[in-house]
Amino acid sequence: MTDLGQTKILLGAQWGDEGKGRVTDMLAATAGVIARSSGGMNAGHTVIVGDEQFELHLIPSGILHSEKKNIIANGTVVHPPSLVGEMEGLEARGLSMNNLFISDAAHVVMPYHLLLDRLEEERKGDQKIGTTKKGIGPAYTDKAARRGIRMGDLLDLEEFRTKLARNLAYTNLLLTEIYKSKPLTVESIVAEYQPFIERLRPHITDTAVMLEKARKAGEEILFEGAQGTLLDLDHGTYPFVTSSNPTAGGVCTGSGIGPTCIDSVLGVTKAYLTRVGAGPFPTELDDDLGSRLQQQGGEFGVTTGRPRRCGWFDVPIAKFAARINGLTHLALTKLDVLSGFESISICTHYLLDGETIEELPTSARLLDKLEPVYEEMPGWTEDISSARTFEELPTTAQNYVQRLEELCGVPVAIICIGPGREQAIVR
Ligand code: GDP
Ligand code: IMO
Ligand code: MG
Repeated sequence: MTDLGQTKILLGAQWGDEGKGRVTDMLAATAGVIARSSGGMNAGHTVIVGDEQFELHLIPSGILHSEKKNIIANGTVVHPPSLVGEMEGLEARGLSMNNLFISDAAHVVMPYHLLLDRLEEERKGDQKIGTTKKGIGPAYTDKAARRGIRMGDLLDLEEFRTKLARNLAYTNLLLTEIYKSKPLTVESIVAEYQPFIERLRPHITDTAVMLEKARKAGEEILFEGAQGTLLDLDHGTYPFVTSSNPTAGGVCTGSGIGPTCIDSVLGVTKAYLTRVGAGPFPTELDDDLGSRLQQQGGEFGVTTGRPRRCGWFDVPIAKFAARINGLTHLALTKLDVLSGFESISICTHYLLDGETIEELPTSARLLDKLEPVYEEMPGWTEDISSARTFEELPTTAQNYVQRLEELCGVPVAIICIGPGREQAIVR
């Protein structure tokens, strides 16, 4: 395997659901620590081991190797009832939570965040973002507005009550005056959260210190991204984004690791492109080809069950992800899904009012007007899901991968040709 170094970032190079969970599961085999540094229960990472399927939302996919340390770092937002539910679901399947650690600086997703997420989407009507309604935007809003509650605050019930009362002084105004909804009380929320706090208490710690100790001890550290580059609050297709920074820079602020400690940044990308939720998507296919990708790829959201919008691979997007994240490698997933397509299109650039555009524009207004320009490549008919070396792939599939590498300017280190743990080619 290409040496990715001691400290690796693995992240989504598209709009999420690239297969980060399954690639994390592969790389976790040699890691000492696996950490999530952004997002919350909005993520849905599927990992298939043998005939068992696991769906992870906030717990790193490394938990399937439960002897490894798994960290939910400070940049994430934690909904205690859902996290406890996720832990219990995994425990029921025989996995241990003894090595799961939660940052005391991670912000808490409160019941009113879920409520506000829904109310705000309803208020927006046809302008809605299509969020996962997991309270993510409102939780990060409170964090930025400096009225958020952190996991460490929950450890002292009086501290929790005081901070909650301060928050509710604002949030109840918002709920009653703006959204014409009912106010909430401190005691009802404390009563709801108390059993979950007790369950999580032994897991809450300073995870930045843990990461530093692990690094000094020479352990491999793997950061498992959530969401994707184009959903990044700063760099994504704003305002159709999530409220955190799932890009490489976000890993440093979201975990407390310094940028000079990062050895490699692996961008996970599908061999085509999908998006769930609203917002621009230049290579989206509204036709039979799009439905075929959706059917063959099983493109339905893990968290919300919504069908994912599908389209062809977009090189300006991949180059954008390479630039924003400083990608050192790519992991190309779902190549097997393209089997049977007579011809495969790659968007190499766009036209905007007749002018050639090579770089992905930042404005959603411009993104909506882009016309993708395609290069066609011949497809293959063979089932490639049992290939284990690059040479075992049909020549047309090899050519497709090599062409993507050439156009994106980043080497493809891993090729996934099926959802199973073993269904991958490591170069
Ligand atoms: P994540 O959010 O980035 O972890 O990705 P998701 O788990 O939401 O979506 C990826 C889906 O594709 C999951 O259902 C995976 O089991 C599946 N998957 C991942 N890699 C491959 C692959 O190479 N081939 C096929 N056919 N399915 C894959
Ligand atoms: P993983 O980690 C795909 C999308 C939502 C919506 C937008 C904002 O599985 O790749 P939010 O609830 O975050 O406020 O929603 O972001 N979104 C995702 N899309 N995969 C994800 O996570 C996503 N997490 C959020 O659909 O468009
Ligand atoms: Mg997903």
